[in-house]
Amino acid sequence: MSRPVVMDLDTGIDDALALLLTVRSPELDLVGVGTVTGNVHAQTAATNSLRVLEVAGATDVPVAVGAERWLLEPDPGHTWVHGTDGMGETDQPAPDGAPSPEGAVEQLLRLSHEHAGELVVIAVAPLTNLALALRSDPGLADRLARIVIMGGSARDGGNRAPWGEANVACDPEAARIVFAADVPRTMVGLDVTMQVTFDAADLDRLAASSDAGAALAAQLLPFYLDVYTRILGERRCAVHDALAVAAAVDPTLLNTEALPVDVETHGELTRGMTVVDLRARFPGWPGGQGPHSDVALDVDADRAHDLILGRLLGDG
Ligand code: RIB
Ligand code: CA
Repeated sequence: MSRPVVMDLDTGIDDALALLLTVRSPELDLVGVGTVTGNVHAQTAATNSLRVLEVAGATDVPVAVGAERWLLEPDPGHTWVHGTDGMGETDQPAPDGAPSPEGAVEQLLRLSHEHAGELVVIAVAPLTNLALALRSDPGLADRLARIVIMGGSARDGGNRAPWGEANVACDPEAARIVFAADVPRTMVGLDVTMQVTFDAADLDRLAASSDAGAALAAQLLPFYLDVYTRILGERRCAVHDALAVAAAVDPTLLNTEALPVDVETHGELTRGMTVVDLRARFPGWPGGQGPHSDVALDVDADRAHDLILGRLLGDG
């Protein structure tokens, strides 16, 4: 049986892979896409999402533009990881379709009524839309089955800042609202997403495939591989957002622990840090209070890689 899913994206290259993977996963029924400014502006993220959905033959999925600005944090407009177009400077054709007239927050609220108690949100971008939705309708929390977040870091430090992972650190106030909400939550942070990577051999397999989705992935990946090669010193790239989708498909890919998570919004050096209270692992240690999330601490990286690549190749 497939679960209704809405995705929140800042479509970017790994977001595009995540979106393809969702469409290719029979366990998930994608009922809407919302966009937010992050890797690219929210409008560009919508254009990119429409393009991916058209290539994947999923033109019935509505794409709604969401927050163009984060709650407080200014947008420096960084585009070096995904290119100015978010698609690795690949000059993609404009999609035939257009974003829906509904905004992403309104879409999320509507879908939460239509699929009350069942809707899973896969949020792989700054959490602005979700925070705005939770603030405008606190009843939303009761109607969501789970939020799967690609974001944060429990033990492994950050990427946008020393302790700030991009999706949390772009909008720490929004992330704080989401991590405090009374909704079951999975945090798929850098601790696990940096372990699941694509390399040049994976790119070759995608490029050799006759599948249209695989061909699009093969167009997007070289730019991202170049960026990550400069970062990591070897030719492989972390497919962060796709792992969040894989975890929604098969939660056994992750080793999670229910732990309190809060988001630092003031620290001079730590603004945007997910503060995971690891003391809660020990029954007798005082502290360990506050809203819990299922925090991914480890991943079966080979199995996750094979699930993601296999489905992008159209292998089922
Ligand atoms: O930190 C990784 C996250 O930041 C991913 O969602 C990627 O798309 C970027 O937005
Ligand atoms: Ca993203």
